[in-house]
Amino acid sequence: MTRPPLLLSLLLPVLAQAATPAEQYTAFCASCHLPGIHGAPRVGDTAEWARRLRGGFSLVYRNAIEGVPNTAMLPLGGASLSAAEVRAVTEYMIAASALPAAALKEAARYDRLGISDRDFIRQDANYDGRLSRAELAQDPVLGRNLGRFDIDRDGALSEKEYLQAEAVLARERAAVRVDDAAIRTAVRKALAGIREIDPQYANVEVRNGVVVLKGIVSHAVVALRAGDAVKRIPGIRRIDNRLVSGDQIGWD
Ligand code: HEC
Repeated sequence: MTRPPLLLSLLLPVLAQAATPAEQYTAFCASCHLPGIHGAPRVGDTAEWARRLRGGFSLVYRNAIEGVPNTAMLPLGGASLSAAEVRAVTEYMIAASALPAAALKEAARYDRLGISDRDFIRQDANYDGRLSRAELAQDPVLGRNLGRFDIDRDGALSEKEYLQAEAVLARERAAVRVDDAAIRTAVRKALAGIREIDPQYANVEVRNGVVVLKGIVSHAVVALRAGDAVKRIPGIRRIDNRLVSGDQIGWD
């Protein structure tokens, strides 16, 4: 017998009994999601999954497939599964968390708004699909410019208006000539304003206007806050936010 048929005959029975989502969950995801370690939402924690689903099912599926930046949640959960399989496993995790019907309805409602930008959803505190002046309170530069980008004059930014504003403000920020040392000083000053960041563990590098943030912060949310704090600083051409949560390396 030649080798390929032998290999195939060995493999076929294995391939035939494809693992169920529950089995794949146990094999690839439970290490973090069963105990809820490294910052992972614990399967069965109804309130936590309901909170995460406020921004729609599609964002949660996408986060499972693409990974969540600055966290231990790698693309596909780091597993050797296809995107479709990871989606099915995620459906299993949600089902196992026994969400009330109202929470599932809320998630489906947000999906119907057709919004996909992570940063927009994160700032849409009341999940109405628009960013109001109050929701933009943490971003005074965008707040001041609201009138410029609120094309339909409804007093808030739609996702389209928001993305347009981000693109224009980033272009304007990059067009200002500031030397790297001065950018670095401004970035360090902005980070110093964030209580949860220990400057000892947050490193700032600037080269030709490209800012690289490296280091360890207490939680993924703090990494995002750091990105928010520096993203309007004039002279910055690009921000590469590589801050990771300490959760990720098992300090919990
Ligand atoms: C090494 C630990 C680890 C493993 C293994 C892991 N995850 Fe995660 N997962 C995380 C962390 C940490 C988060 C929270 C990220 C954050 O801060 O939003 C997360 C979040 C999620 C979320 C919620 C996303 C959202 O939008 O809130 C889903 C869904 C998810 N993981 C699915 C999976 C699936 C499916 C697998 C297995 C194929 C898996 N994870 C394996 C660490 C892990």
